[in-house]
Parts: sequence; structure tokens; C-alpha cells
Amino acid sequence: MIPHHSKDMVQEPDVSKWVEGKVVRLRRWTDKLYSLQLEADIAPFTAGQFTRLAMDIDGKRVARPYSFVNGPDNPLLEFYFILVPHGPLTNRLVEVKSGDTVYIAPRGTGFFVLDEVPDADYLWMLSTGTAIGPFLSILTTDAVWQRFRKIVLVHAVRTCKELTYGEEIDALLARHPEQLQMVPFVSREDTDFAIRGRVPQAIENGELEARAGIPLTADTSQVMICGNPAMVRDTSTVLEARGMKKNRRSNPGHITTEQYWKD
Ligand SMILES: Cc1cc2nc3c(=O)[nH]c(=O)nc-3n(C[C@H](O)[C@H](O)[C@H](O)COP(=O)(O)OP(=O)(O)OC[C@H]3O[C@@H](n4cnc5c(N)ncnc54)[C@H](O)[C@@H]3O)c2cc1C
Ligand SMILES: NC(=O)c1ccc[n+]([C@@H]2O[C@H](COP(=O)([O-])OP(=O)(O)OC[C@H]3O[C@@H](n4cnc5c(N)ncnc54)[C@H](OP(=O)(O)O)[C@@H]3O)[C@@H](O)[C@H]2O)c1
Repeated sequence: MIPHHSKDMVQEPDVSKWVEGKVVRLRRWTDKLYSLQLEADIAPFTAGQFTRLAMDIDGKRVARPYSFVNGPDNPLLEFYFILVPHGPLTNRLVEVKSGDTVYIAPRGTGFFVLDEVPDADYLWMLSTGTAIGPFLSILTTDAVWQRFRKIVLVHAVRTCKELTYGEEIDALLARHPEQLQMVPFVSREDTDFAIRGRVPQAIENGELEARAGIPLTADTSQVMICGNPAMVRDTSTVLEARGMKKNRRSNPGHITTEQYWKD
């Protein structure tokens, strides 16, 4: 007889079985921002999901979650990360060279995916810093263009040089000129193109909607929010004040979130 727990044991990815990823390139955007490109034989993933990367540091395997930046159809895996002061894994990851090994979990995981987002006219993708990654992955899929009439991609950073992936975003804008809008936020520098300040304030005072030219309301919009936990919380609070609510499978709403660390 099959033991009661065997189903769970089969479905649970075996995290002790790491896959060896081969570093193809480490792209350096600024002194803190990097993209790691890897070749690795892993299971198919869904756009928006994350996996775990690991390296052996002082005799211990140190693992952290990272979102896929590449689309599921692209075999070159890509991860966008910031060098965190005194962060164990990122300080090691910035030293890798082409041909080095970075371990990767055998399959992707996570629910920050379009299948979890109900239908709406408009999809708002709100990110801080490196959390633009999962949105870039989702934007490579056909489903997102088929399901939403308009998509607004927001990238909120401290300084202009942190507005990365410009070429990739320009290519998406050229391919979907009527459907996609990119709204950059820069909080600590004046620019003539970005909104100065933070996302929740720009929602509250109407600046984001004015820039996008579409309403951000419960009857028109779905909102995906990713990155800094304080931004995720403060933005959710502002949206909830507009009658939007967290999206749950049992109780569909309008706000789907992922936090990159705990407050
Ligand atoms: C679901 C999920 C997906 C993630 N995806 C990414 C990703 O795609 N890119 C990425 O850079 N990080 C991502 N992270 C964070 C990542 O797992 C690591 O925590 C981070 O790279 C730092 O690792 P570390 O070992 O150097 O330091 P840690 O000991 O892990 O982190 C130390 C501190 O650094 C800060 N921090 C961590 N990550 C970030 C970040 N991205 N931006 C700003 N501050 C941060 C926090 O204050 C954290 O407590 C994700 C986290 C989760 C939970
Ligand atoms: N980026 C750097 O140059 C730098 C330098 C030193 C250390 N670090 C460290 O690196 C890590 C990541 O830095 P990061 O710049 O990628 O990410 P971040 O600190 O999350 O900042 C990204 C954007 O999110 C905004 N933000 C922060 N809290 C918010 C909130 N509650 N509501 C709305 N928006 C909010 C920031 O605005 P504000 O500017 O108004 O906070 C900024 O525009 C942090 O641990 C940081 O301490 C970064």
C-alpha cells in the first residue's frame, strides 16, 4: 500500500538535488546591479516564477531565491540582482566568470504568474529595483498581450542609471506601441522624463493615471506589485483605499504581490 505522504513526497522538488548551471556571462549595469546569464538543464517554468541559485561559500551551500528574467521559451536563463552590502550570496555572485558553476534548483516555483491574475481591461506592473525582472519575463509571453487591452510597466528606482533593460523595453514598446506603456520613477534625482518620487504617492495624487492616460480602478484594472516590501505594502494600502482588494484564489480581487525580502 502506498503510504499516505507519498504524493507530497513525489510532488515536492528535491532541493538537495541541485543542477549545475554554467555561467555564460555576468553583465554589469552599474557598480551594484548585475545580470547573470546561465545555461542549465532545468524543468520548464512559468513566466513570473522564481528559482533558487546557490554557491558554496566557506564550505556551505548558500541559496537564495531569484526571479527568472528570461521568458520560458528562451533557454538562456537570466537573473537580475543587486549587490547587497554584506549580503552573503550577492557578494560571491559578482565574482563569477564565464564558465564558472552556479547551482540552480531543478524547477521554478511561485504564484506571481498571469494564471493567478483575473481578467481585466488593464494590467499594471509595478516594480522597484531588481523586481522588474519577473515582468520582463511575463512580457515575453503571448498570453499577456492577448488578455489585457493595455499594460503599464512601472520601474521605480533611486537614480537614473538604475533604469536598466532599456533596449529590451524599447523593443517591447516598438512591438506593442498601442498596448504597452512604460512609466519610470526616479526618487532621488530630477529628470525630464521620469516621475520624481514614489509609486503610492503618485497613485494617490493621480499622477500615475494621468501619465498612463487610463484609470486605475477596481472595475478596470489588475495590479501586480513586486519588490521592496514597504513599497508593496504602501501601494496595496493606497489601492485598497480605492476599493481594490488582494487577489486570492478563493476570493478573486485586484492586487497580486511578491516581496523580495521581509521588512
Ligand atoms: C521570491 C523572491 C524572489 C527574489 N528575486 C530576486 C531577484 O530577482 N533579484 C534580486 O536581486 N533579489 C531577489 N530576491 C532577493 C534575494 O533572494 C536575496 O535576498 C538577495 O539577492 C540578497 O542576497 P544576499 O545573500 O547577498 O543577502 P541576504 O542576506 O539574502 O539579504 C540581506 C538584505 O538585503 C536586502 N535585499 C535583499 N534583496 C534585495 C533586493 N533585490 N533589492 C534590494 N534589497 C534587497 C534586504 O534588506 C535583505 O534583508 C528575491 C527574494 C524572494 C523572496
Ligand atoms: N541603489 C543604491 O544606490 C544603493 C546604495 C546603497 C545601498 N543600497 C542597498 O541596496 C538595496 C536595494 O536598493 P535599491 O535602490 O535597488 O532598492 P530600494 O531601496 O527598494 O529602492 C527602489 C525604489 O523603491 C522606492 N521605495 C522605497 N520604499 C518605498 C515605499 N515604502 N513605497 C514606495 N516606494 C518605495 C525607493 O524610493 P526612495 O528613494 O524614496 O527610498 C526607490 O525609488 C537596499 O538594501 C539598499 O540599502 C542601494
